[in-house]
Amino acid sequence: MKKPYVFITRKLPTQIVQALEDVAEVKMWDSEEVQVPREVLLEEAAKADALLTMLSDKVDEQLLSNAPNLKIVANLAVGYDNIDIYTAANNGVVVTNTPDVLTDTTADLAFSLLLATARRIVEGAQYIKEGKWNSWSPFLLAGTDVHHKTIGIVGMGKIGQAVAKRASGFDMEILYHNRSRNTEAETELGAVYQSLEELLKKSDYIVCLTPLTEETKHLFGKEQFKMMKNSAIFINVGRGQVVVEEDLVEALKNGDITGAGLDVFYQEPISNSHPLLELPQVVAIPHIGSASVETRTEMMELCCKNIKDKLTGKEVKSILPN
Ligand code: DGY
Repeated sequence: MKKPYVFITRKLPTQIVQALEDVAEVKMWDSEEVQVPREVLLEEAAKADALLTMLSDKVDEQLLSNAPNLKIVANLAVGYDNIDIYTAANNGVVVTNTPDVLTDTTADLAFSLLLATARRIVEGAQYIKEGKWNSWSPFLLAGTDVHHKTIGIVGMGKIGQAVAKRASGFDMEILYHNRSRNTEAETELGAVYQSLEELLKKSDYIVCLTPLTEETKHLFGKEQFKMMKNSAIFINVGRGQVVVEEDLVEALKNGDITGAGLDVFYQEPISNSHPLLELPQVVAIPHIGSASVETRTEMMELCCKNIKDKLTGKEVKSILPN
C-alpha cells in the first residue's frame, strides 16, 4: 500500500524526521534558513496527507481548499495565528501546536530581554566593541533597576506564569491582565489581576505575551503608551501585530516611555531600515523566544509524533483550539 505523504516546510535534522519515515514518505524543503516559496507550499499541500509547518508559513483558505488528502497540520510553535483553524476544522484537518515544551525557554528569553533592556546590555556590548570605553564613570550606561519594581504581564497563560515566577525571584510586585483569572498565579506567586488601564499606569515593566487574535490586534497603540509611566519599559514576546509600531516609535521618541525589548514585529523579518531599529533604547531580536537547541528539538519531535499518531490512527495530543 502507498505510504502517506508528509511535507516539512524547512530542513530539519534527519535523525528527528526519521521517526516519521517508518510510516510515511517524507519530503523536506531543502533549506533551514530560506522559507519555502508560497507556490511550492501550495503544490506540496495539494499532494500531502500531513504538513509540518513553521510560524512563517501561511496555512489559509487558499491552501486548505486545495489540499484534498490533508489530515493534519503540525505547527512548530505555540502560536498559530498563521493558520486558519476554522477552515481547517471545516475541512476535517487537525491542527496541532507545541505547548508546554517551550514554556520555560520562552519565559527565560522574555526575562532576559527585560533585563537586557533595563540594564542596557546591548548598548554596553556595542560600546566596548567600538572602542569607546576610555574611563569608568559613575553614570556610564546607567540603566534602571529590575528588582523590587512592578511588572505587568499582559497575557497570563503558561508562559506568563513562568515569567511571573522569574519576577518573584527578583522581588518584583506582579500585576497581570488576562482574558480570565489565573488563580494559580494569584495564590502561588501573589500576582494581582488588574484592568489593562490600571496595569499600564502602575507597571515599571509591561510584558506582552498575548497571542494574536481579533481582540488583541493593535492592543498597544498611542493611548496605551500614553497611559504608561515615562520610565516604563515595554517588552513584547507575544506577536508583533498586537502593537501599532508607529505609535511605539513615537512613544519612545517623545519620552512617553523609556525603552522597549522586542522579539516580535509587525512584519517579520523586520527591515533593518525600520525606524524602531534606529533607537538606542530598543533591544530587538529576531523572534527567538523558544530558540534553545533543547527546546527546538523537543518541538520538532512533538510535531513528528503528532503527525505519526494521526497517520497511524492513534490519539493526537495538543489539537487546536485547546
Ligand atoms: C511561538 O512558538 O509561538 C513563539 O513565538 C515562540 O518563539
